[in-house]
Amino acid sequence: MLNSRRLTVGAGAVLVLSLAVLPRAVAWRLPGHNQGFAPGQPIAFSHRLHAGDLGITCQYCHFGADRSRYAGIPPVQVCLNCHRYVNPNDSPEIQKLYDAAGLGDDMNRDPAKRLQPVAWVRVHELPSFVRFDHSRHVVAGVNCRECHGPVERMDRIRQTATLAMGMCVNCHRRVNRTGVNGRAVHASLDCGVCHY
Ligand code: HEC
Ligand code: HEC
Ligand code: HEC
Ligand code: HEC
Ligand code: HEC
Repeated sequence: MLNSRRLTVGAGAVLVLSLAVLPRAVAWRLPGHNQGFAPGQPIAFSHRLHAGDLGITCQYCHFGADRSRYAGIPPVQVCLNCHRYVNPNDSPEIQKLYDAAGLGDDMNRDPAKRLQPVAWVRVHELPSFVRFDHSRHVVAGVNCRECHGPVERMDRIRQTATLAMGMCVNCHRRVNRTGVNGRAVHASLDCGVCHY
């Protein structure tokens, strides 16, 4: 799979570096690169409802995706754009949003309440020796679905991809041949582009 003739001096140094951090990284990531990981979350937020049925676009909430490395998890204020008004049957799940934002019964900030960001559990996470940038992919026209699967059909988020090196490199090879949405791209295969 790896073509050793590609290894330059710089790449060799990266490889050594990568290997140096490997034991720790591998220890908690095995087995299977966390594919299928779908942890419970502190609030029963459903992508199927919000991104599917209600049709809210991904970037309404993940507004970093086309402008930074991180797609980002939305702050509670984004939820409150709607849930300040929408609270079906005094839902205990929606109450958690009001608590997080320190809102009182009158929907104003209650100084007696502590602000507490929602402690969402992280699902996708590359090892720290890998460099990944959302904006490069999203701006080039790669759909979220290519790496995250049919999120709009998931009640609870699940990691559908392996996020292994082979997945990245295979796609980079493919898009260099086919382009993305009819546009030519250059997705690098250099070790140093993906590795610190
Ligand atoms: C209404 C806001 C909202 C919309 C719309 C939304 N998301 Fe999310 N997304 C969240 C929140 C909140 C979380 C963290 C809680 C969770 O994992 O369910 C999250 C988590 C995720 C994660 C997992 C993050 C991690 O920890 O690895 C992915 C991937 C994701 N969303 C992709 C998408 C995609 C793709 C779409 C569009 C099809 C989308 N989201 C639409 C709010 C939203
Ligand atoms: C664009 C409007 C909108 C935004 C933004 C939004 N929601 Fe919702 N949400 C709704 C609607 C509409 C419902 C369904 C209400 C119903 O069942 O009548 C809902 C339902 C829910 C429910 C289910 C409540 C229950 O007990 O039935 C939860 C939990 C929830 N949203 C959490 C969130 C979170 C967390 C965010 C921010 C990450 C968020 N929502 C952002 C519109 C929104
Ligand atoms: C080329 C693959 C790829 C594409 C396309 C992609 N993602 Fe991701 N996403 C990842 C990887 C890999 C991670 C883990 C990144 C890390 O650990 O630094 C991730 C992490 C996330 C997270 C967790 C928080 C963060 O920013 O790290 C969210 C939310 C997310 N993606 C949403 C989206 C949305 C929404 C889109 C489309 C607008 C999208 N992603 C497109 C691969 C992708
Ligand atoms: C679905 C196809 C696809 C997958 C999967 C994918 N990429 Fe990419 N990648 C691209 C495209 C397309 C570009 C943008 C090329 C351009 O802008 O011309 C890109 C660009 C990049 C860049 C910027 C390259 C540069 O020259 O600066 C990095 C870094 C990168 N990808 C890392 C990753 C990593 C790490 C993974 C796996 C976690 C991954 N990619 C998975 C298609 C993909
Ligand atoms: C397009 C991005 C990309 C490119 C190019 C790339 N890698 Fe990787 N590499 C990754 C990702 C992502 C991982 C993490 C996989 C995981 O979680 O185990 C990784 C992991 C590794 C590991 C750890 C062992 C393993 O397989 O998990 C080594 C060593 C490594 N890469 C060396 C290299 C070398 C040498 C090159 C150049 C020939 C290279 N990589 C090019 C994305 C890339």
